[in-house]
Amino acid sequence: MIKKMNFESRLQHYSFLSACTETAGELATQVFIIGGFVRDLVLGRESSEIDFLVLENGTDFATTYAGKLGVKNVTVFKNFGTAHFRYQEYDLEFVGARKESYERNSRKPTVFTGSFSDDINRRDFTINTLAISLNKDNYGELIDTYGGMIDIENKLIRTPIDPFITFDDDPLRIMRAFRFASQLNFQIDETVLQAANKLRDRLKIVSQERITDEFLKILSSDAPATGLIQLYKSGVLEIIFPEIANLAGVDQRQDYHHKDVFYHTCMVVDNISKMTDNIWLRFAALVHDIAKPQTKKFVEGTGWTFHGHEELGARMIKTLFKRMKLPFNKIEYVEKLVRLHLRPIALAKEEVTDSAIRRLIVAAGEDLADLIILCRADITSKNQEKVSRYLENYENVMKKVWEVEDKDKLRAFQSPVNGEEIMRICNLSPSRQVGEIKSAIEEAILDGKIGNNYDEALAYLMEIKRIML
Ligand code: CTP
Repeated sequence: MIKKMNFESRLQHYSFLSACTETAGELATQVFIIGGFVRDLVLGRESSEIDFLVLENGTDFATTYAGKLGVKNVTVFKNFGTAHFRYQEYDLEFVGARKESYERNSRKPTVFTGSFSDDINRRDFTINTLAISLNKDNYGELIDTYGGMIDIENKLIRTPIDPFITFDDDPLRIMRAFRFASQLNFQIDETVLQAANKLRDRLKIVSQERITDEFLKILSSDAPATGLIQLYKSGVLEIIFPEIANLAGVDQRQDYHHKDVFYHTCMVVDNISKMTDNIWLRFAALVHDIAKPQTKKFVEGTGWTFHGHEELGARMIKTLFKRMKLPFNKIEYVEKLVRLHLRPIALAKEEVTDSAIRRLIVAAGEDLADLIILCRADITSKNQEKVSRYLENYENVMKKVWEVEDKDKLRAFQSPVNGEEIMRICNLSPSRQVGEIKSAIEEAILDGKIGNNYDEALAYLMEIKRIML
């Protein structure tokens, strides 16, 4: 006989749950905690959202229970038979046990009242079917109908019923499988991967916002490559993000082969995820080489080249953001990082000029530190000696950046040719034009068009004088 597990001691922290037991007694019903909260409790993860499964009426239960806790604001969704309220820092959700029937062309099921087991087997993954009884006679007892605990132990995503049915009912679950795999660092069971592959076209009935939301959760996890690689192997990545799936594969010609850009990208994303939680910086890492397939060329004697992939990649970002319904105010940032991701390494040479450094400072602006994080994450060599050398290169670039910034600050970006001289050379009296010419010289220095010195500023003044006057 399987030993019954009891979570009573772990529930002590949530003292407000005892009023739940009372409510169930008074209403002669049964109540369970179910889903993500139980999964996370077992995994030792913090969770502030608690889902309650009530036999029969979830909304009546919620109002009575809220009354006992002194909570006045209960949101009831009569049509869905669900209710919600906040208590302390927790979001409490209530639902009556249900059975669902799905139409082929919609994610929205028709819902009927069901039994505890009807409700459990309509859920997505075994790890989400775990329930804890809050009823008086077996308070704290874990109900594990589908082996969710073993799957947690084996770090496995499985479905409680045939995965073809689970995914066909609600194709968003295909994305959820990869999201949980990534967040929890789990593997996805082979049959589940097969079903995801066969039914991937069903993702078409899921809104882009939801797909993107799950995708960004994958990207936000500690090691996103777990999800990305499984997405690729199942063929789902081809549907939801073809540009990234296209990075996979290695071409060999003569003695030359290039590295697999997809697996390189996964390593870069995992690297950067250790350095930052900034999802858009992680996104930039994901797409930094996105135009490599289009720019790939074999050059005799040199091997494979990808000239201009950074510029073409930057130009692909806007279309990508539109299609994936990503926030438009992040386009410029991602474009900038993609466009500039090769620049710092080109500046690591000894003889690099101040103006080249200044051009980088101006182009990257306030995102320079993020750009360097991306560059460091882009080092995926297995050769430790090479890694140290590359990292040192970036340190040198940053040293030069600080030096140039220091110098520029000392001169406060004053034009080396002053107002008096501008008036004399251009034959002007004090006027707005003098200021405009002075700013044009300063801009040219900041843009790196000319060096920050008198001779170049004077030559530039002579040049623009003809155009500006
Ligand atoms: N569920 C499901 N199919 C879905 C969405 C949810 O079967 N497409 C079920 C799962 O049992 C899940 C529960 O509803 O555990 C609650 O859903 P949700 O709050 O979205 O997920 P959690 O598992 O709680 O995880 P998280 O809060 O991390 O999203």
